[in-house]
Amino acid sequence: MNHEIKILPSLLSSNFANLEADIKMCQAAGADILHVDVMDGHFVPNITIGPLIVEAIRPATSLPIDCHLMIEEPDRYIEDFARAGADYISVHAETASHLHRTLSLIKSTGVRAGVALNPVTPLSFAMEAAEYCDFILLMSVNPGFGGQSFIPSFLQRAEDLREFLDFNELEHVEIEVDGGVKVENAAAIAEAGASMIVSGSGLFSGDFEANIRDMRRAIDAGRIE
Ligand code: DX5
Ligand code: ZN
Repeated sequence: MNHEIKILPSLLSSNFANLEADIKMCQAAGADILHVDVMDGHFVPNITIGPLIVEAIRPATSLPIDCHLMIEEPDRYIEDFARAGADYISVHAETASHLHRTLSLIKSTGVRAGVALNPVTPLSFAMEAAEYCDFILLMSVNPGFGGQSFIPSFLQRAEDLREFLDFNELEHVEIEVDGGVKVENAAAIAEAGASMIVSGSGLFSGDFEANIRDMRRAIDAGRIE
């Protein structure tokens, strides 16, 4: 299955004092999905935003909202994020001890379910869970902060996972890549099999519109080659 490549600005790099304006800018510039990073100060050192903010931004856009839960005990909050307006929810394999139950819970709310893996968490976690997922999020940095450098060995991981999914008739399961994605490496990431491409500092630093346009062009050019 040839997935359409989607670009997901990470709101972590947006201006929190004027979220509405930044969200409207994302939509006007052609973003496909908004990526929202939820951090609890336990699973990752940072603390960010919760369901109240998702609910507050929901009316500001018609774009789907992707909630990346970097929190312990994710089951406790899934229904809150679904009610707040999430369209995609991912939980980290490292936090979900009953992953099958957690993915079923996400799906029961009508939201697309994903499992996220830290950079050196074995891919087999996602492989075992893949048939219960709509997407798999591969971290290409250690989660917790924006603006970190892409870990180069990551591309092979995405390729291996894509091959596994395609071989096992799980072509419909999408790969999302998150961390250190810039205009310069987006095409290689798409080429490796990812179809949901998250970028925070890579899009919000400098001219957002030009960055997203250049990223889209680079990805399209890579696909034509
Ligand atoms: C990191 C977050 C990312 C982050 C990406 O833990 O999951 O979504 O915002 O930011 P950049 O693209 O700047 O690495
Ligand atoms: Zn994220």
